[in-house]
Amino acid sequence: MIIREINSRELNDEEFIEEKVIEISEVVGDDLAINALSGGVDSSVVTMLAHKALGENLKTYFIDNGLMRKDEPQRIVSIFQERGVHVELVEAQEEFFTALAGITDPEEKREAITQTFYKKVFRRLVIESGAKHLFQGTILTDIDETVAGIKRQHNVFEQLGIDPEKEFGYKIIEPLKQLRKDGVRIVGQAIGLPEEIYNRPPFPGPALAARVIGEVTPEKVELVRQATVIMEEELAHFDAFQNMAILHDDRVTGVRDNKREFGKVIQIRSWKSVDARTATPMKIPFETLLRLGERIPNEVPGVVNVTYNLSPKPPSTMEAI
Ligand code: XMP
Repeated sequence: MIIREINSRELNDEEFIEEKVIEISEVVGDDLAINALSGGVDSSVVTMLAHKALGENLKTYFIDNGLMRKDEPQRIVSIFQERGVHVELVEAQEEFFTALAGITDPEEKREAITQTFYKKVFRRLVIESGAKHLFQGTILTDIDETVAGIKRQHNVFEQLGIDPEKEFGYKIIEPLKQLRKDGVRIVGQAIGLPEEIYNRPPFPGPALAARVIGEVTPEKVELVRQATVIMEEELAHFDAFQNMAILHDDRVTGVRDNKREFGKVIQIRSWKSVDARTATPMKIPFETLLRLGERIPNEVPGVVNVTYNLSPKPPSTMEAI
């Protein structure tokens, strides 16, 4: 299937919204539709479009996998609530951590998260809701990169020739598949989302689990979450493509209150990038790095050492797993 690209220069946001709302209403009719909102710009714009078209016939879920940043699930739900969109928060932390228990291989970790999301939690919601239509925030870049084998995307079954109805029992609607990210941001602004959503930096599907090396446990994710709060505060004024705090699996000796402590290591990565295909570390002022080096061991339990990543992508990747 050839998809006609709408680039951001030719995009008429109001017209696009109007057209998609009509299309969605026609396809879904009086049926129920369902979507999972992650709070990223793509799923947020899809939620707004589908809500505009379907109102109460759209059921939107935010699945809390226990891997989100601090307060993120509640914040996202309230942003949509303020815009008249009811989002149901699904507490699925235990299911995800159970699936991740004992796994250390990066690909197996990613697979455990994907399978838990699609085959367990979301599948159950779809079946219980009786919805026949499922919205996905696939954009053109996802399709290109999946077809080229660069990305492991899971929201493009149709483009890959996998029948989603046979595989999972539902149909997928992808209203954004003609747009690139810059176009989606324009539509996001036009449809009334706040800047913190339409200009949101990318965040990986596996969330903070992509930043825990080794087995992912609730305790380790909590350490990354706390370090992320500090890092985001200190790096807020630098215009990085992405900032991340990573928990290493190895430990090093530190000293606290005159006692030696075999403690944890957090690595900070701050990326300069245009499209995430290549990236270089940001030139963060040394004073800021030193502040991170002091604050994180003081405020995050058990951490005695902070490092800053200096390697570009490639050969590094941006995330740790
Ligand atoms: P890497 O680590 O591959 O990351 O250099 C490149 C960009 O992609 C994001 N990323 C993901 N995004 N699902 C996503 O939606 C994923 O599984 C995933 N893994 C990495 C990463 O944050 C960076 O922006």
